Amino acid sequence: MKNQRVLVLDFGGQYNQLIARRVRECSVYCEVKPHGMSLEAIRAYDPIGIIFTGGPQSVYAAGSPQVDAGIFELGVPILGICYGCQLMAHYLGGEVTAAQEDTAREYGKTKTWFETDCRLFDGIPEESITWMSHGDYMAKVPESFRLVAHSAACPNVGICDEARGFYGVQFHPEVNHTEFGLAMLRNFLYKVCGAVGDWTMGDFMRSSVEAIRAKVGSGKALLALSGGVDSSVAAALLAEAIGDQLTCIFVDHGQLRKNEGDEVEAAFSEWDLNFVRVNAEERFLVKLAGVAEPERKRKIIGEEFIRVFEEESKKIGAVDYLVQGTIYPDVIESGSDVAAVIKSHHNVGGLPDYVDFKEIIEPLRLLFKDEVRALGRELGLPEQLVNRQPFPGPGLAIRVIGDVTKEKLDILRDADFIFREEIALAGLDKCYNQYFAVLTNVRSVGVMGDGRTYDYTLALRSVTTSDFMTADWARIPYDVLDRISVRIVNEVRGINRIVYDITSKPPATIEWE
Ligand code: XMP
Repeated sequence: MKNQRVLVLDFGGQYNQLIARRVRECSVYCEVKPHGMSLEAIRAYDPIGIIFTGGPQSVYAAGSPQVDAGIFELGVPILGICYGCQLMAHYLGGEVTAAQEDTAREYGKTKTWFETDCRLFDGIPEESITWMSHGDYMAKVPESFRLVAHSAACPNVGICDEARGFYGVQFHPEVNHTEFGLAMLRNFLYKVCGAVGDWTMGDFMRSSVEAIRAKVGSGKALLALSGGVDSSVAAALLAEAIGDQLTCIFVDHGQLRKNEGDEVEAAFSEWDLNFVRVNAEERFLVKLAGVAEPERKRKIIGEEFIRVFEEESKKIGAVDYLVQGTIYPDVIESGSDVAAVIKSHHNVGGLPDYVDFKEIIEPLRLLFKDEVRALGRELGLPEQLVNRQPFPGPGLAIRVIGDVTKEKLDILRDADFIFREEIALAGLDKCYNQYFAVLTNVRSVGVMGDGRTYDYTLALRSVTTSDFMTADWARIPYDVLDRISVRIVNEVRGINRIVYDITSKPPATIEWE
């Protein structure tokens, strides 16, 4: 059964992903596509509605992103947001100009009045706050449209042509600051586009299981399991679909946190699948011995990981399918492919071409991270796996500063465990997006009992962030920090000093290496 679909056409605005997520939160499937998508492709996609996103340009500027005018003849409802609203007005006979200073140009939270007999604003109050960010405005509204929202500075905040199902808003309904934004999107989907709400994780799971079975038949599939959320959920889904035709190779590189390898193994013992855990700590430690430079550590681990995986897959023999846990944000077209490499991220995603397989299966490629977690829960994966914080592929090797030894890793594992345990005990585990300990390469003098110590300094790191591209250091209460500090120095041999990292990203990064 095919889901109803909404198409989000991307004009380069910063909230485009958010629009897609909000639509899916309303149980309607949608995808973000480039604004240049051809009319034939749009027809073939067969959307129940189209959303034009915001964008940084002016619709009248040379070279600004446009659409094929035929899109307005498809008989499909359209919601234009910000630039998308202006674009619609521009095409349909309205007029868009630069706003004069202090008149119709608006940024931030803005009191807005609505005509609630318009279907888009059905059921919301006549006055509420919206989030604006526009320097242009519609000087003339297209003929068939009526004005349905205004602010103090701008008469044309919302327009509609209800007969054709065309709606435009200058503000951003997808942003939380717009008080009834989600209700407006819901109205567009359900009251205008005729959505039935057929996008649920239970349905997705069942249809994916069927599709995977149909594709794989009696063939064999192989999956590299890192213990991270994405590969774990992909493994659980495949296990549900094809059971012991699936082999999961879990390379335990010895750089995992305390008990982590066992937890991953235990979670997968529920399924009738072939689970291979390769305890490769020793060979990773040999390769890492004496290496202090962070990028070298990452390269070594990435390469060794592939070697181990390759050796194990050879033992299994010819496999038909390789499964990867790629998710939607990994595949979506992104505007910036010129960003500088700050750190080379190692993921098990980019696995080999040289394993003998016919095809790649990426069962999560349509999902956002929160949807992947919801699917994991639906499949019955334990909460500690589903809600796992991001954990770098090279693991603790990049949280032991300087050269990596088994002794240092064990010290770090114990300290990190206490840190995480105390954060959870304080009820703060949902408040911070990532928190972990780092074993610095610094030793300092301390005193314990009557004796002098000369031990390692441990750094604690905790951040709040929405996208991990920027982050703020978390304001952990002093009494919690104190408990953590007392416990670690008392319980973990080898640490006599604890510091808390109070730098944001930028200028620092989240990890230390
Ligand atoms: P940074 O340190 O660059 O980290 O601010 C941003 C986020 O990415 C995670 N991270 C990695 N994830 N492989 C990964 O899969 C890696 O090599 C890697 N390095 C950093 C980091 O934990 C944070 O969440």
